Amino acid sequence: MKKNATVITYGCQMNVNESAKIRKIMENLDYNMTEDIESTDVVFLNTCTVREGAATQIYGKLGDLKRVRDKRGTKIIITGCFAQEQGKKLLEKFPYIDIIMGNQNIGRIPEALDEIESNKKVKHVILTEYEEQLPPRIDADFDNKITASISIGYGCNNFCTYCIVPYVRGRERYVPMAEIVEQTKEFVKKGYKEIMLLAQNVNSYGRGLSKEETFANLLQNICDIDGDFIVRFVSPHPRDFTDDVIDVIAKNPKIARCLHIPLQSGSTRILKLMNRGYTKEQYLALIDKIKTRIPDIAITTDIIVGFPQETEEDFLDTLDVVRKSKYDTAFMFMYSIRQGTKAAEMDGHLSDDIKHERLQRLIALQTEISKEISETYAGRVERVLVEGPSKKNKDVLSSRTSTNKIVLFEGDKSLEGHFVDVKINECKTWTLYGELVQE
Ligand code: SAH
Ligand code: SF4
Ligand code: F3S
Repeated sequence: MKKNATVITYGCQMNVNESAKIRKIMENLDYNMTEDIESTDVVFLNTCTVREGAATQIYGKLGDLKRVRDKRGTKIIITGCFAQEQGKKLLEKFPYIDIIMGNQNIGRIPEALDEIESNKKVKHVILTEYEEQLPPRIDADFDNKITASISIGYGCNNFCTYCIVPYVRGRERYVPMAEIVEQTKEFVKKGYKEIMLLAQNVNSYGRGLSKEETFANLLQNICDIDGDFIVRFVSPHPRDFTDDVIDVIAKNPKIARCLHIPLQSGSTRILKLMNRGYTKEQYLALIDKIKTRIPDIAITTDIIVGFPQETEEDFLDTLDVVRKSKYDTAFMFMYSIRQGTKAAEMDGHLSDDIKHERLQRLIALQTEISKEISETYAGRVERVLVEGPSKKNKDVLSSRTSTNKIVLFEGDKSLEGHFVDVKINECKTWTLYGELVQE
């Protein structure tokens, strides 16, 4: 009988991508993938450590897994950024973990499992080295058969002072352009309709590669591939958003009309403390340029409130940029202290109460803006990519516009994975409702 394996994913798109690779590795080892922890033989926790809350969640899960391990000898493997950060320290609290590895090492899962299973003397395998290498290419299949992601680069050199990522993902290294284009072709041939390019800083793509291997050229080469598909990417850095990239997006409708441009703070003083490399005015000028060159663009962002020394005045600058940028949506976070980062050592840490209060005000403003933008869709006909039945109502199809708005409409399940036109009838803040336009 086949053994079962389970992958539980926390964190960002990068981890989602690496979980898909882990699943493929396990399938190749003849495991059956299941989501049912009670009947699994090997469980992977693919972890995140970007904010404090991540650890609490993982500790809870590790407690749960001990019970399953005691019951059926399930092997416990912890991968991802929290595993890389903590390394063998994790064994102090959780001595029953079998394997601890950073995601640059997932290619070595087969040998690590073999070591644990074949040599009774080996109690644990810990693989947190090789951080600076480009990991070997690993194939992946993605759950919904609609969206495939491709890592175009690993690591980060930016060292924003609040951020742990550069310490757990190592230095920047980029995948050769020809390889990415080849992989995109394969995914498009397999029928994927949305290609998502991933790196911590996508628009510094090509550093260390040849002169032709720039992010703009990569996007253009991908758009030149035949087929009906849409291209997205996360995350660009405002400082590195060059004109050639804006031009390529403007002239290629295959590139989604939605850009994620992390703001972090609207105050030039705080941006400097964060080591972001741009001012409030430079950021606003970039947004203005993008909106002028690509008028139908939607913009989303990440914002941190309550960074050390952030005053009410600094926070008002953030609200000001939010008002001016008119984001479609924003991921908004309270600053969370990460040991080992520069910001952790700074003076002037703020109380949770202040952070909380600012976050609530920011969310209120952004919700208003999101609602306003949503309402502009009324009566429009939008080309959407159908993702499948809606989670809440199986008789309704869920789809997304190029601007990444969710659109629900009644239609046959056979439309799944197709682009169709939908007329928008009703606009709620986070969801649009429409009807299929018959051809
Ligand atoms: N490389 C990407 C993603 C980084 S992590 C980028 O630069 O955009 C995703 C988001 O988490 C960041 O954009 C930031 O807003 C948030 N974040 C990172 N460290 C944080 C911290 N210590 N506290 C709160 N939010 C943080
Ligand atoms: Fe973190 Fe900044 Fe790198 Fe993004 S660019 S991963 S926020 S250090
Ligand atoms: Fe988390 Fe690592 Fe992604 S810390 S946000 S999983 S890069």
